Amino acid sequence: MEVFKTVKSLQNRLSKIEQNKNLGFVPTMGALHDGHLSIVKKAKTENDFVIASIFVNPTQFDKEEDLLKYPKTIEKDLEELASENCDFVFIPSVEEIYANIIKSDNFDFDGLDRVMEGAFRIGHFDGVGTIVKKLFEIIKPNKAYFGEKDYQQLQIIKKMVEKNHLSVHIIPCEIYREKDGLAMSSRNARLTKNQRNEAPLIYQTLLKSQSLFANNNIKFIKTMVNNKFKNNEFLQIEYFEIADIQTLKPADYKVNGIKYRAFIAVFADSIRLIDNIALN
Ligand code: PAJ
Repeated sequence: MEVFKTVKSLQNRLSKIEQNKNLGFVPTMGALHDGHLSIVKKAKTENDFVIASIFVNPTQFDKEEDLLKYPKTIEKDLEELASENCDFVFIPSVEEIYANIIKSDNFDFDGLDRVMEGAFRIGHFDGVGTIVKKLFEIIKPNKAYFGEKDYQQLQIIKKMVEKNHLSVHIIPCEIYREKDGLAMSSRNARLTKNQRNEAPLIYQTLLKSQSLFANNNIKFIKTMVNNKFKNNEFLQIEYFEIADIQTLKPADYKVNGIKYRAFIAVFADSIRLIDNIALN
């Protein structure tokens, strides 16, 4: 596995890849867990070469505390990527990516960024769009892989690719879960024992809303979910929405022919956990 810290050294190496070979790209912020590694595994089966990036992108954090507390486990990350036979890793510094101007570009995501994560984390998706576009321009992958764990992010990246006529194919990857159903996240490591014990409730309520969806209205399901968290000492619900998977607009009632997903964000103290599930 070859590790690169500068754009120049990386591009020099990538330029030596033959034209007929495929390059798959897995962007990450490090603190890798099995969810990330499942994406690398998938990318390995679909490409001649796989590159992962590890970069904690400052412009996508709406809270300074979250950025400062973001776990850093670079040595372990590199070992794990090597054991998955990842070919290249790009670990740039903030200066390498942003020079002295640590600022997002403004994107028009046709409203995909105004709901749910975008509504609660102002500027977040402009930051994500900025870094992913920069990385695509540097790496020029054939395919890039994004987890459905961050479903809104995945849709926003697809929109950015479409609007900017980028040639990369965006490949969605299934949510990878702990045995008890909790979606894997770098933030799970920050949960206290009590919070961790309660956290599977998030996926359990998503499963419950999935089983209720065919025969119940959206208002009923929302009330059920909010009640499940109402008296919970360790988990506070921030939002639960049922939304059209294309527009991501939260729905109040079902329309025939539309596909829906349920989306949830929960706080365990200041640790924010998200999850989602397909409903029909
Ligand atoms: P990060 O949170 O490190 O996630 C990297 C990729 O792993 C994302 O595509 C995310 O959706 C996916 N992922 C995380 N947990 C997962 C799980 N349990 N199952 C499946 N996929 C999972 O998302 C980011 O970084 C950043 O916003 C980034 C795209 C790298 C831009 O900075």
